[in-house]
Amino acid sequence: MSEKILILGACGQIGQELTQKLRVIYGNNNIIASDIREGDENMLLSGPFEVIDATDKASILAIIKKYNITQVYLLAAMLSVTSEQQPLKAWDLNMSSLLAVLNLAKEKHIKQVYWPSSIAVFGPTTPKNNTPQNTIMAPTTVYGISKVAGEYWCNYYHEKFGVDVRSIRYPGIISWKSKPGGGTTDYAVDIYFDAIQKKSYQCFLSKDTRLPMMYMEDAVEATIQLMETDIKNIKNRTGYNLTAMSFTPEEIASEIKKHIPEFKISYQPDARQQIANSWPETIDDAEARKDWNWKHTYDLSTMTEEIIKNLKKLESDSVK
Ligand code: SER
Repeated sequence: MSEKILILGACGQIGQELTQKLRVIYGNNNIIASDIREGDENMLLSGPFEVIDATDKASILAIIKKYNITQVYLLAAMLSVTSEQQPLKAWDLNMSSLLAVLNLAKEKHIKQVYWPSSIAVFGPTTPKNNTPQNTIMAPTTVYGISKVAGEYWCNYYHEKFGVDVRSIRYPGIISWKSKPGGGTTDYAVDIYFDAIQKKSYQCFLSKDTRLPMMYMEDAVEATIQLMETDIKNIKNRTGYNLTAMSFTPEEIASEIKKHIPEFKISYQPDARQQIANSWPETIDDAEARKDWNWKHTYDLSTMTEEIIKNLKKLESDSVK
C-alpha cells in the first residue's frame, strides 16, 4: 500500500522543507500538511492542508480517517529558548502531542510515527566531545527534559505495544528557505541573513561556543531515510545521535568572510549562552551510520557557499 503521510507542525523550520521534499517523493496529494495556523501560499498550493492542534487527539484522528493516513510526522514543538520562558506550556505541548500520536499508533490507526529529539537531551555532566549514543543525559533545560521524557515514552510504546516510532536527536539545523524560532542554535541561521542584509551580526553566544550542527538538506534526507529503512535495521527506539559538523560563531564568521570580506561579527552573550554551555560540542553518530547507512553531504564550507549563493539570488530577485 502506498503511504499517506500527515505532518503535524508543517509550518515550522523543518516542517516546511520536509513537506516539500515528501511531496516530491510521494506525490503532492499523499502528503497532508497541518499546523495550528494556516500555511503560506507555497504550502497551500502544493497539496492538502488542514488546521490542527497537535495536542487534540480527536481532531488528529478525524484527519487520519479522512485521508487514510498511514504515517504521522509530529514536528509541532516549543524549542529551547521559548520553553524556558513558558515551561508548563512547553511541557504540555511537547508531551501531549507526542502521547496523542503514540496512542493513535497503539490503537492501530497509523503504522508509523516520526518524532524529533534533540542534542538538548544531554546536559552539563554529559561527556562534551564525541558524545556517545548511550551516556549520561541529565538535561538542565525544560526543552531537554521534555525530549528525554519523550524518548523514553517512544521506547516504552515500542516495547509494550509494538509501536513503530523512530527518532533522531537533531543538532542545530541550518536553513535559508525557512527560519527557525525560539532555539539556541538559531544564531547560525540569523548570521547568514544579517551577513547579506547588513554585513554585520551581533551574536548572542560567545565566540568559542562550539555546537553540533547540520544543513537542512541533510536533516531532511536523514529523516526520510530513517523512516524508509527496513524495520529490522532499526535498533534504537529512543533517538539516534546524528551530526554533520561542529563549529563556533568565530569559525562560521570566518567562513562567511571568505564570501563577504567586509562582514563583521560582535558578541553579546545573553541567557542563551547558559543553554548552549549545557550541550555537547561534538556528537558520535556511529550507530546511525551503521544501522541505516547515514552519511552527511554538507560541511561548514559547502553549506556556507550554498546558503550565501541562494540568499544573494533571493536578494537580487527581490530588487528586480
Ligand atoms: N535547535 C534546537 C534549539 O536550539 C535544539 O534542538 O532549541
